[in-house]
Amino acid sequence: HRNLLGIAGLQPWEIQYLLAEAEQWVALNQQSSKHDDRLAGLTVINAFFENSTRTLLSFEIAGKRLGADVVNMHAAQSSIKKGETLIDTAMTLNAMRADAIVIRHGSSGAVQLIADKVDCPVLNAGDGSHEHPTQALLDALTIRRRKGEIGGLKIAICGDILHSRVARSNIICLTTLGAEVRVVGPPSLMPNAIEAMQVTAFTDFDAALDGVDVVMMLRLQNERMQGQFIPSTREYRRLYGLTEERLTRAAPDALVMHPGPMNRGVEIDSNVADDPSRSSVTEQVEMGVAMRMACLDVLTRRARKVEGWS
Ligand code: CP
Repeated sequence: HRNLLGIAGLQPWEIQYLLAEAEQWVALNQQSSKHDDRLAGLTVINAFFENSTRTLLSFEIAGKRLGADVVNMHAAQSSIKKGETLIDTAMTLNAMRADAIVIRHGSSGAVQLIADKVDCPVLNAGDGSHEHPTQALLDALTIRRRKGEIGGLKIAICGDILHSRVARSNIICLTTLGAEVRVVGPPSLMPNAIEAMQVTAFTDFDAALDGVDVVMMLRLQNERMQGQFIPSTREYRRLYGLTEERLTRAAPDALVMHPGPMNRGVEIDSNVADDPSRSSVTEQVEMGVAMRMACLDVLTRRARKVEGWS
């Protein structure tokens, strides 16, 4: 693959390969000196058309730890604000001879559009409600390190499934690796025909939690709502909030995950989110840097004339 636009299309061994590659970067990042200069001389552009804390900073840190020259383009301060089109922006970035471009955009498919116009690898940092592949990969890395093999695990993904690119990429990733995936949320936030994605859909959170090994909570994507009915914040917490009491329905050693940003007291209570023996919220952020180092390394191998991955 030249690009990383989604988990869809990746073979199980390709996902496993990226997970294995990330391990060396987890180890490096835990040392006091965190540098490896294999991307020295390369330029990575992070073009973010939507807000981000974790993804933008971790891609920037990942590129810098690998020795690349990293520059960030924030759409709010760019000529997008003067009416420049997405295609013209892509061609402008391409003319600067980037060696990799990382893009976040609010519209599904926008990253593919840019990838079709540029000469270097493109990494999708989240496009609309389509895919967020590096989030799914860092989540898989976190699960694998905590639970061992992903195949055979029971995993519940809860919340705004309809709008969540995190849910979509995770469903594809986790089912490809052989997990049993349950999705749960309000009926208005459940995509039609979700069962076609090899998952079991629930509207009752307690039923979905029964015996699961992993509970992955999602934020309500208020910025993507288009008139869907959603319960009030209080009602949402009552029906779909992960509380300490509710977590007892999952397996005794169940892992609690959240990609961030969290709405504390809505989809997840602080005493669950902040307990490192049960929650991997901060570990997911740590794994995000390692996984993005792996993705930048692997996708720039062709440019560096190093053997690729597929
Ligand atoms: N999880 C995630 O994508 O977070 P950011 O929006 O802060 O990048």
